Amino acid sequence: MDDEILKLLRESPSAFLSGEEVSRRLKVSRTAVWKRMKRLRTLGYEIEASTRSGYRLIRSPDLLLPSEIKPLLKTKWIGKTVHHFHVLDSTNSKAYQLALNGADEGEVVISESQGKGKGRLGRQWFSPPYLNLYLSVILRPKMSPHQASLITLMAAVATADAIQKFSGLLPLIKWPNDILLGGRKIAGLLNEIHSETDRIHFVILGIGMNLNMDEKMFPEEIRTVATSLKIEMGRMISRKAFLQALLQELEKWYTIFMRQGGAVILKAWRDRAQIKGRGVKVTSFGETLVGRAIDVDSDGALILQTEGGERRRVVAGDIVYKK
Ligand code: BTN
Repeated sequence: MDDEILKLLRESPSAFLSGEEVSRRLKVSRTAVWKRMKRLRTLGYEIEASTRSGYRLIRSPDLLLPSEIKPLLKTKWIGKTVHHFHVLDSTNSKAYQLALNGADEGEVVISESQGKGKGRLGRQWFSPPYLNLYLSVILRPKMSPHQASLITLMAAVATADAIQKFSGLLPLIKWPNDILLGGRKIAGLLNEIHSETDRIHFVILGIGMNLNMDEKMFPEEIRTVATSLKIEMGRMISRKAFLQALLQELEKWYTIFMRQGGAVILKAWRDRAQIKGRGVKVTSFGETLVGRAIDVDSDGALILQTEGGERRRVVAGDIVYKK
């Protein structure tokens, strides 16, 4: 309903729209219209109201409502349907449900905040309201589940490219799929897959990106290792504008992946990660391995030469770079 009222107000940007007309076109009472206008104001919309002439939209806040985003989108199919929420437990969980119920490839779930934002390895993703991006994209790639990790690598490359194009800064990918700026984490990816033995039904691509956080807003435990685009660029970031850039890169890289295969993705990922030969300490399922990174396998696993000379493949975990 918020979105429908905003669409009407935008149809005639400088003219007043009478309360009667809004109520007629949306088939709701005048009181309901008035209540909605009041609610929109609390969300940051500046709406002029005149008893004689009706309502007029003066200014919009940086909300991620479909009616705010759609005019900016340059994509062909990602984000054609956007499900917007002010609060959700997790956009990934919501997108998973929607996909189970038949949602199309390219549908996007966005929430202004998350109560239980899911991070990797069972952690929580810090998701305060109206500052950052928390989104999940539904993909239905025609491929077998063993290739699914390439989708994660693809999304990491797309996110890094979007950051670079938007800011001119140079992000790095840290295995498996953290995006770093200035050595600190700015974005994280969590993909969930629903499949049978040889066929993927869908993949939920979850991306959390810190945009307008100040350093003091981060919980103490992550303050020294996390950053935001505002901190790095020294100015407020338009969340809609960044979202537009991100969805465009995702569509571009996913199309490249589908047409040209995984080798192009792996190469782009390796260029961004520059992991070969680096000294690393890896924690994986309670085990700590110290050694040198040899490469990343075609399934996204880290290949490592341990200090003891052993060659190991690590499929999940965290790494710290060593000098
Ligand atoms: C990580 O631990 O680095 C991954 C974090 C992924 C967070 C995003 S926020 C949007 C989407 N919904 C979730 O519940 N998680 C992902």
